[in-house]
Amino acid sequence: MKVIVANNNDVAGKKAFELIKEEMDNGAKVLGLATGSTPVSMYKYMVNSDVDFSGMTSVNLDEYVGCAPDDEQSYRHFMQVNLFDKKPFAKTFVPDGLAKDPEEETKRYNKVIADNPIDLQVLGLGRNGHIGFNEPGSPFDVETRKVPLTESTIEANARFFDNEEDVPKFAYSMGIGSILKSKKIILMAFGTEKADAVKGMIEGPVTNECPASVLQQKDDVTVIVDTDAASKL
Ligand code: GLP
Repeated sequence: MKVIVANNNDVAGKKAFELIKEEMDNGAKVLGLATGSTPVSMYKYMVNSDVDFSGMTSVNLDEYVGCAPDDEQSYRHFMQVNLFDKKPFAKTFVPDGLAKDPEEETKRYNKVIADNPIDLQVLGLGRNGHIGFNEPGSPFDVETRKVPLTESTIEANARFFDNEEDVPKFAYSMGIGSILKSKKIILMAFGTEKADAVKGMIEGPVTNECPASVLQQKDDVTVIVDTDAASKL
């Protein structure tokens, strides 16, 4: 695990963008992408660059169950606004929050991942150490599934909604097993509220109580944190 401490999240986003560019120069065709506030600076660098993404495929980590693609809170909407509307990709995949049959949807998404093996996966980090929506206690060997969100995640994500009650209680999430299949991983985390999770991920035991700690076992993981998120290392 390579750890880069950046002065702030703008510098971190630029670094992440440069790593993406480097992988694309080396032939990467499929990017695994993430939502949340963390990757926003990286998306700004992607959007403002002259890099052509029109031959690229993206596979997103997760989506809220019950959220329509055009719902402002949906992760599909987030991706359109922050990246795809400005930098078109050849193909973009996000789980379908409105899928009628969760089992069929998770099967479909696992086939998407199998058909489009991820060259570089971008991850954020939950305050409780989650990656995607793989909350503490998640097994390390599962693929995409429908998962309940913990109270702590509902509370953390309430900032994007009018009321905490509006935060969906379930999501479709790539499993940790699917995430670990990607060739390379970049994980970003910013702010003091992530400092405990960052410490657990890098210095703690590998345990599913801190799902991100599993990344210690994978080659080719780059962690980019700001000084606040690195403050407990
Ligand atoms: C959310 C998402 C994750 C994200 C994390 C951190 O719940 N499912 O993919 O990485 O929480 O979010 P943020 O970047 O807004 O802190």
